[in-house]
Amino acid sequence: MDRPLTILGIESSCDDSAAAVVRDGPAGARVLSSVVRGQNSLHAAFGGVVPEIAARAHAEVLDLCVEAALAEAGVSLADLDGIAVTAGPGLIGGVLAGVMTAKGLSAATGLPLWGVNHLAGHALTPRLTDDLPFPYLLLLASGGHCQFLLVKGPDRFRRLGGTIDDAPGEAFDKVAKLLGLPQPGGPAVEREAQTGDPRCIPLPRPLLDREGCDMSFSGLKTAALRARDKLMEGHGGLRESDRRDLCASFQTAVAEVLTEKARRALAIYLADEPATPSFAVAGGVAANRLIRDSLSSLCLREDVGFVAPPLALCTDNAAMIAWAGMERARAGLPPDPVITARPRWPLDTTASPLVGAGRKGAKS
Ligand code: KG4
Ligand code: ZN
Repeated sequence: MDRPLTILGIESSCDDSAAAVVRDGPAGARVLSSVVRGQNSLHAAFGGVVPEIAARAHAEVLDLCVEAALAEAGVSLADLDGIAVTAGPGLIGGVLAGVMTAKGLSAATGLPLWGVNHLAGHALTPRLTDDLPFPYLLLLASGGHCQFLLVKGPDRFRRLGGTIDDAPGEAFDKVAKLLGLPQPGGPAVEREAQTGDPRCIPLPRPLLDREGCDMSFSGLKTAALRARDKLMEGHGGLRESDRRDLCASFQTAVAEVLTEKARRALAIYLADEPATPSFAVAGGVAANRLIRDSLSSLCLREDVGFVAPPLALCTDNAAMIAWAGMERARAGLPPDPVITARPRWPLDTTASPLVGAGRKGAKS
């Protein structure tokens, strides 16, 4: 291990303004601070993230987040070795706010600056939390993303498959909405599902009949809408038990699709006979107990290590961005002389675009 490195991370690609300080040294990597300021209350009245409101809010609070992250970590700008900032993919106004903040800090201090892909931040997190060796398989499942990634190096990713329409978190949020449950929908649907019958309402398992690891969640959401309407028609309104059964049936459908597609992705990954096979999850949907248990049982059967980083590092944060910068620095990748904010930025540039990718969700 070279000398310890301390990196400041800045993230603002969707609706969380975040700054964090991460240090890597002989004793391993440590998150010295991770400050996240959400914007839920600003967007609540609009039923989704409003890009202009998000961008303005990022511009207002990012410097405060940086100050708080430095203070919490007990370091000053002079103690840093570099800055890493999310340069995409994401809502362009928000990404720009982060990039401008980071460029200003870098120009004022002379610190090297790395422009990081937000998805790389998620994908490399299991190395920050669990020191996972390359190559490993990652499922990123959140409100804006859903993909299986083979993570081979700080800058080497192969996408094995992904959603061709909605992300699963987005589907959870929409199902919650149509059942009158609060946002974010995932935790609300999971709560209701606990006492529902998962086999009561037949829902499709989209794309299981198609080879490969691509997924689709838009039709499942529409099927849930039709099932709700049918139940309401039959019972003259939505009964509490119907709502619970629908949540349980929907959650089980998502879990079964993700698990079967994960089985296929694992088969591709294991064909290369990795020395220490590991499967990691990231993103808010990984918080779901049924989905997590189902994926970890799959790994047990396949004799593959299962890693689920703590939720605060699975969901959007700046520690993962600082860490992705750290990985680049350690790999000898030079700082980026020019950083351009990018609304779209696939990690695997060789993979063919997923049908409709980027069409839905804040990030693709
Ligand atoms: O990773 P994340 O915090 O933000 C981004 O989308 O980038 O993920 C948020 C998504 C939301 O759609 C939320 O409904 C979903 O993750 N989620 C869950 C659960 N907790 C959060 N979905 C299913 N079950 C949960 N327990
Ligand atoms: Zn994210």
